[in-house]
Amino acid sequence: MRLLTFITTLCFLAACQPSSTHEQTSDAQQQDSLSGEQHRPLYHFTPPQQWMNDPNGMVYYDGEYHLFYQHYPDSNVWGPMHWGHAVSEDMVHWEHLPIALYPDSLGMIFSGSAVADLNNTSGLGSAENPPLIAIFTYHNMEGEKAGENDYQTQGIAYSVDKGRSWEKYEGNPVIENPGIKDFRDPKVFWHQESERWIMIFAAADRIRLYNSPNLTDWTFMSEFGENSGSHGGVWECPDLFPLLVNGEEKWVMLVSINPGGPNGGSATQYFIGDFDGQTFTNDNSPGTSLWVDYGKDNYAGVSWSNVPESDGRRIFLGWMSNWQYANIVPTYSWRSAMTIARELQLVDTEEGIRLSSLPVEELHSLRKASLEVESQRISATQSLSAQTSWQAVAKEGIFEFIVPQNSQVKEFGLKLSNSLGEEVLLGYDKMKNEYYVDRSQAGKNEFSADFAGRHPAPRTATSDTIKMHVYIDVASVELFADDGKTVMTEIFFPNENFLQLDLYTEGGEVQLVSGNLHQLEGSMP
Ligand code: FRU
Repeated sequence: MRLLTFITTLCFLAACQPSSTHEQTSDAQQQDSLSGEQHRPLYHFTPPQQWMNDPNGMVYYDGEYHLFYQHYPDSNVWGPMHWGHAVSEDMVHWEHLPIALYPDSLGMIFSGSAVADLNNTSGLGSAENPPLIAIFTYHNMEGEKAGENDYQTQGIAYSVDKGRSWEKYEGNPVIENPGIKDFRDPKVFWHQESERWIMIFAAADRIRLYNSPNLTDWTFMSEFGENSGSHGGVWECPDLFPLLVNGEEKWVMLVSINPGGPNGGSATQYFIGDFDGQTFTNDNSPGTSLWVDYGKDNYAGVSWSNVPESDGRRIFLGWMSNWQYANIVPTYSWRSAMTIARELQLVDTEEGIRLSSLPVEELHSLRKASLEVESQRISATQSLSAQTSWQAVAKEGIFEFIVPQNSQVKEFGLKLSNSLGEEVLLGYDKMKNEYYVDRSQAGKNEFSADFAGRHPAPRTATSDTIKMHVYIDVASVELFADDGKTVMTEIFFPNENFLQLDLYTEGGEVQLVSGNLHQLEGSMP
């Protein structure tokens, strides 16, 4: 371990500059590898350096989307948590800002949320200059080491300069711990009907709900989760928000769980139901487990607060890793990235109302060159990269397929590959009626037995058209199938970037109805 830290430090001193081009020559890759920058995404959010996990404090205010994140500035592995900070006008192009919250005598700063207190209910700003309030978990290391149970509490901090500087509230903690070991990750929102702030957070494998008139005095209301959904691990990072479906309002609760995800390790489940200002009730049978994303690498995601009503979207972003291997993935000068921002919606399916996720349209600004692929029969392999004058590691593709009546096709989809024979498959398995990401031959995987593999996701759509919308970056793929009804997010670490892209089929032909491929440009500073 010490050797690794030493090597990392060396990499650091070698001035790690993110590569700014979208194309990656092998020379550039070699340099990246020496500086510890190999595998740095081009348009996914990454910290400038060192460790990052959950997104925190996501709030929109005065033209800016804020993204805070769990950050340890002294190492590329998890450690005493701070809130790193960045802002963006479009959730695509980010500006890094100084660390917002540092650990203090009450503990490290674990995950949480932020709100714009527009009516200054807290009194921590003024009517003319309402404060931003961050609500987070204090994790007291001494308490934990001493074997106590009450070492996690909820605290707040405020900013009156658009999040550029923060003061901790002097009355912290605002919620004491009654003796529950895992007691964390507050998400707060204003509930108009009851004219109260609502806070929800995770307590062991339950969700607790509180209310407050002013963000400082909190009253316990109810608990949710006993016998509902999956309980394979501890519950973390909840969210609760309304969405319209068929003209009716439904409430969605997100709950991250670790371990216990559908493909192992960390994942985010959700519930659909009602919230009356006091209690959340689940519409589905207690045994139903629903997942935001079936890939292995989308965890602790929540939605932005205070997105203007005129916009109306519920926008989500998650941490693109998994606690099974987050600390040991082969990146050095920094560790881990966020997913792209996604719009969440409720949609009707044959199984009932379900959550869908779609890339936010702001991402279109990344499109550079494009290729429209002709409608055609595909048998075996059809190279797309051979049809373009550009070779891009960052790309977006939208493909619609139909299985011809007499076709014996077993599976088909997209293949990313490089000249070393490493590959990632994003496919549809017709026999099993499921999508999959296969990263078993994707390059580096020796760091964890839980990494390599083929990971499935059930298809819920019933249309004849198989639609795959994919976002590909240096080290990740995000698959939005059937307009976001099945979603998979996975990371990978090839020894040479994946520049080749093919359509493939196994066992028979498939009809490509339409295909669009876009080269994407980088968007990180
Ligand atoms: C989720 C999580 C949270 C916690 C944070 C600590 O990944 O475990 O529950 O607040 O990370 O960094």
